[in-house]
Amino acid sequence: MSSIKIENVFTAYDKADVLMDVSLNVEAGKITCLLGSNGAGKSTLIRSILGLTPPREGRISVDGKDITGAATHKVIAEGIACIPEGRRMFPKMTVTENLRLGAFQVSDEALIRQRMDHVFDTFPRLAERRDQLAGTMSGGEQAMVSIGRGLMGGPRILLIDEPSLGLSPLYVKENFKIIESIRDTGITVFLVEQNVRQTLAISDYGYVLSGGKLVAQGSAEDLKNDKEVYAAYFG
Ligand SMILES: Nc1ncnc2c1ncn2[C@@H]1O[C@H](COP(=O)(O)OP(=O)(O)O)[C@@H](O)[C@H]1O
Ligand SMILES: [Mg+2]
Repeated sequence: MSSIKIENVFTAYDKADVLMDVSLNVEAGKITCLLGSNGAGKSTLIRSILGLTPPREGRISVDGKDITGAATHKVIAEGIACIPEGRRMFPKMTVTENLRLGAFQVSDEALIRQRMDHVFDTFPRLAERRDQLAGTMSGGEQAMVSIGRGLMGGPRILLIDEPSLGLSPLYVKENFKIIESIRDTGITVFLVEQNVRQTLAISDYGYVLSGGKLVAQGSAEDLKNDKEVYAAYFG
């Protein structure tokens, strides 16, 4: 099982500072969440990990190996997969074709098939709709495709950016249950969200980001019961 360590990270776009002195641990085999409102810098932290917007200061490591500013394909090669905000389906491609894209670095056809079977076991609804065009599916089903696509790379760590965005409460519940079951297979999860209640319900540990700074952290249980944190940051 793998972990990520983020130490004193500062990230900026041009002259606009976004992340200021962010340090956190994504623990092996656990769900670690990062909560924060719109514009807090959550996606920027994911971009920093992936080398898309490298930090201008600080260190990011995976299982002790420094990946700060490494090219994205090298970060992925360390066993990290990202499920991006907004899901980014290819609407004119089928479910199966979208899933295959998640295994683009894999040439072993048997391995691809094995992972595809695993995704279809995890999401029976996708198995039923494997030949349907992704663009014609509901938001909740597209969220399943995007999570499935992440699993096709065989990651040890999954970064998930706001999977609940735009989903009905029922789909949020269903998808979060699946994220929990992914954790239970030994995959480390870093879950970035605005949906405080449902995210803390499945997380082991959480951090709160506000204005690019970490303002609170604790076990999900402690954060759930922290009235001050709730009042100050979760409205
Ligand atoms: N590509 C970009 N160029 C300049 N500023 C950006 C860019 N992406 C995001 N920002 C700014 O960085 C801040 C944090 O954005 P983001 O990380 O997307 O927040 P969150 O994911 O928490 O909503 C916001 O003020 C946003 O406007
Ligand atoms: Mg975001």
